[in-house]
Amino acid sequence: MVAKQKILITCALPYVNNVPHIGNIAGSHLPGDIFARFCRLAGWETVFIGGSDEHGTPIEVAAQKLGISPKELSDRYYAVHKEIYGWLDISYDNFSRTSLPEHHETTRGIFLKIYENGFISEGVLKLPFCEKCSRVLPDRFVEGMCPKCGYEEARGDQCEHCSTLLNPDELKSPRCAICSSKPKFKEIKHLFLNLDKLQPKLEKWIKSNEKIWSPQVVSAALGWINEGLKPRCITRDIKWGVKVPIKGYEDKVFYVWFDAPIGYISSTKEWAKKIGRPSEWKKFWQGDAKIFHFIGKDNIPFHTIFWPGILLANGEYALPYRVAGLQYLNYEGGKISKSRAWGIFCENLAGTGLSSDLWRYYLTLLIPETDDTEWKWKEFKERVNNELVANLGNFVYRTLSFIQNNFNGEVPKARLYAKDREILELGKKYAAEVKALLWDIRLRDGLRRVFELSDRGNKYFQESEPWKAIKEDREKAAAALYVCANLCYDLAILISPFLPKSAQKICEQLSAKLGSLEDVGRERINSGTEIRNAAPLFPKLDDKTIERLKMTTSKVTQYEELFKKEATYEDFSKLDLRAAKILSAEPVKGSDKLLRLKIEVGGAEKQLVAGVANSYKPEELVGKTIVIVNNLKPAVIRGEKSEGMLLAAEDGETISLVTLDREVRSGSRVR
Ligand code: MF3
Ligand code: ZN
Repeated sequence: MVAKQKILITCALPYVNNVPHIGNIAGSHLPGDIFARFCRLAGWETVFIGGSDEHGTPIEVAAQKLGISPKELSDRYYAVHKEIYGWLDISYDNFSRTSLPEHHETTRGIFLKIYENGFISEGVLKLPFCEKCSRVLPDRFVEGMCPKCGYEEARGDQCEHCSTLLNPDELKSPRCAICSSKPKFKEIKHLFLNLDKLQPKLEKWIKSNEKIWSPQVVSAALGWINEGLKPRCITRDIKWGVKVPIKGYEDKVFYVWFDAPIGYISSTKEWAKKIGRPSEWKKFWQGDAKIFHFIGKDNIPFHTIFWPGILLANGEYALPYRVAGLQYLNYEGGKISKSRAWGIFCENLAGTGLSSDLWRYYLTLLIPETDDTEWKWKEFKERVNNELVANLGNFVYRTLSFIQNNFNGEVPKARLYAKDREILELGKKYAAEVKALLWDIRLRDGLRRVFELSDRGNKYFQESEPWKAIKEDREKAAAALYVCANLCYDLAILISPFLPKSAQKICEQLSAKLGSLEDVGRERINSGTEIRNAAPLFPKLDDKTIERLKMTTSKVTQYEELFKKEATYEDFSKLDLRAAKILSAEPVKGSDKLLRLKIEVGGAEKQLVAGVANSYKPEELVGKTIVIVNNLKPAVIRGEKSEGMLLAAEDGETISLVTLDREVRSGSRVR
């Protein structure tokens, strides 16, 4: 840690086909932000860079399903992401997008230099090609029967039923996921990055970082090195992405992991332009800045091998200084899951009415620095009440309201004794310790340290008994309150990387401006300083509030809702909705979700395959009158014909059938 340095901080660029959840926040954006705020506080030249990762097959697939363009999809989600990070006070200096022209040019420039340097080779892959759609199909665009378990809806990358990893050519009776015709396998040219040639340099670089990175990251990286690196394909036969600038590759784009990390550089360039010093980015990427990447553990291979491989092959940019690989955050005993609506999804946070600092506080304690961690509502409540409210909040409020009520709202003049001095000195000591911890990215320990200082403040206040002293020995009370007011200011500074809003509030009440780390322990709050509107910093949470929060934060907006278009009456009237009676129900072989129902609709018998087996036993269903879409185009599901669809409400994993509350004949129209 040196006095003057330049720091560039990045967080993994999120894909924009999803709303971020608390695991994404605790696993990258929040630690990145705390670190960036800390670096600024330490007086270092700091740039904090983010953006969205908008290319890749998942986004193309999601958009295709919705019948919109990938650009439309990313536009919408980009806005959602940006708003959420803003709300959480993630202080990005720039939050860019990989779909911007600047990024495409930067990527091509970097590639061409690598090509010139001789680290790109050509190879041939056998890939599925759909003649009807006239396109090469990405792995997950090929469907067919799993060779292992016989599941018919297996995808070319993996069978969802038995989890086996697959190649598209292993599927039995493969079909195009878009048009269902049978793909042909073709030999197609692709470009490869020669990681094999880069191996010695990469190994040397990783070893040179052994003391800086966490042992987990080092050993993972060396593990891949020891297995031996192979050339890696960096092109794809899709349209959405950065075009490849050489002859014979006009119809291809770069693999998303080739262009995405380059987004860190393009976002820095965009930032430099925005601040009116367009060359400023070079100070960070082509100078002696220290570059920090905050990423989740699944991103570690890309940031310790592939990305530095790109940089080494190119030779014109600085390599990362530290790759901070974080583990995962779970939720109440399980993995966070959008489809099961299990977790806290950040689109709901603003509506809860709680300050972002409350979420930031508990999430900081849950940053999965070394192991997976877990959100527990009970613990959230306890941490807020026992620590934010009872420790920090209490200390600041009792100090400032005491001054307001007993010293005319002005920090009193004070004659200090040794034991008062001792408390004032604590500021400097704690500042040094917190600084060392944060530099080492031990953010949770740093936060705990700050709360220790606040605890010392509370004890000192208690021992000084100003409420008694004010009557018996006014000078003693004055000394205590002078010391406590200054400690409040020190706490505001030290807490500011973690709880920026609260830090600001403390400063406002103290009529002071938030200083830097240098100001801690320096008695910046002079006698005579006015105390304004002392008020509690944090609300106490009760069980009822927790119940409400639990309910409201687990909602997930599905894409379909986000892109819902208005339906006309005509659209609606195309549906033939009917009452139908269930005659029999049986499980479908090889599936735990599906039931085969025989139903009667106005005298006609039909068969339906419905995914309700998780919520209903077959025998529960027989005799029920339900509502079906009668004119849905028939389909074959798992080898069973399905001639319609039943209506049901979905709430996470719970499914509830639409039934009719009065007896009607089957076949009756529903409108
Ligand atoms: N979008 C990737 C993910 O969510 C992360 C990309 S990080 C970058 O896993 F380095 F490529 F930018
Ligand atoms: Zn097709």
